[in-house]
Amino acid sequence: MLVLAIETSCDETSAAVLRAPGVPTAAPEVLSNVVLSQDEVHAPYGGVVPELASRQHIKSITPIVGEALDRAGIKLEAVDLYAVTQGPGLIGSLLVGLSFAKGLAYYHKKPLIGIDHLHGHLEAAFLEHPAIAYPVLGLLVSGGHTALYLMDGPLSYRLLGKTRDDAAGEALDKIAKFLGLGYPGGPVIEKLGRGGDPKAFRFAAPRTKDRSLDFSFSGLKTAALKVIRENGIAKDGPRLADFLASFEEVVARTLVDHVRAAADQVQPRSLVLCGGVARNSRLRTRFQRFAGESGLEAYVPPPKLCTDNAAMVGAVAVKRFARDPGMTTDLDLDAFAR
Ligand code: KG4
Ligand code: ZN
Repeated sequence: MLVLAIETSCDETSAAVLRAPGVPTAAPEVLSNVVLSQDEVHAPYGGVVPELASRQHIKSITPIVGEALDRAGIKLEAVDLYAVTQGPGLIGSLLVGLSFAKGLAYYHKKPLIGIDHLHGHLEAAFLEHPAIAYPVLGLLVSGGHTALYLMDGPLSYRLLGKTRDDAAGEALDKIAKFLGLGYPGGPVIEKLGRGGDPKAFRFAAPRTKDRSLDFSFSGLKTAALKVIRENGIAKDGPRLADFLASFEEVVARTLVDHVRAAADQVQPRSLVLCGGVARNSRLRTRFQRFAGESGLEAYVPPPKLCTDNAAMVGAVAVKRFARDPGMTTDLDLDAFAR
């Protein structure tokens, strides 16, 4: 069975072709996973401009889907199932992928599944390791989301805690924007902070007052802006690398501290790290180290599967279809922002 998956929730236009495995315990084969980033479009604004994002998706969707089919070596007629990100995300962006997928499914008389983008991120780790032992504790960190999930079994995603204000990636992006370092901020901070002393500046690691598993990054961002002002941190200044390494360190430490607190509560067998910020080496290292200390298996997808991509959307679709092969095309399928 061949699945064509489409992802347009934010500022990446992506299409992927997956072949469902013969047995449910195996991973689907990713025949292609094409991602076109709009970073250059949004860079001058220091963040994603929704109207520009949807216009860009409209320009890119046809060639990107074509490229995904070409690389997989298949024709549209061979597709058995369509999968598309339904939300959360930017409505204008989501509607481009959703309408495109509906049109294809309707014309070719094939079923269409709407997929939750966040479930896609969590499933990315299973593409390389289909037999991760449940229960799985998942940390999802991206530009729009920071959340902890408990997965008791396949397709079960229980939210344990989420950010009450900024997402971790958003905090990185805002600090980079403030310093004029460019967009997206996470990769720039990682690059320019390399070699810096992560202990040079001290920030109190943010924790919500009720000690719940929720996150809060806006206080940390304010604290960082204060450090920038008081120490004259600047783009070409001498202490930039130390500042960036220290900021990255406190973000990584905060995230891993929450994983530790959640693991104490829910006693998982495995850990998964996902989302765009999961590309960060410091976070990956801290996460793996915590797993090692706690005797848990940790799974972190390769960088390409951490940022938004359609293969992760297809991965959820394959599991959903295996559970419910009787699905049909629902042309009323609507996008959701949150
Ligand atoms: O998952 P994603 O591609 O899109 C959303 O769903 O938000 O994540 C994008 C986020 C951005 O905030 C970006 O700065 C961050 O991931 N990011 C990183 C790195 N690469 C991307 N953050 C830290 N280190 C990186 N290497
Ligand atoms: Zn995402």
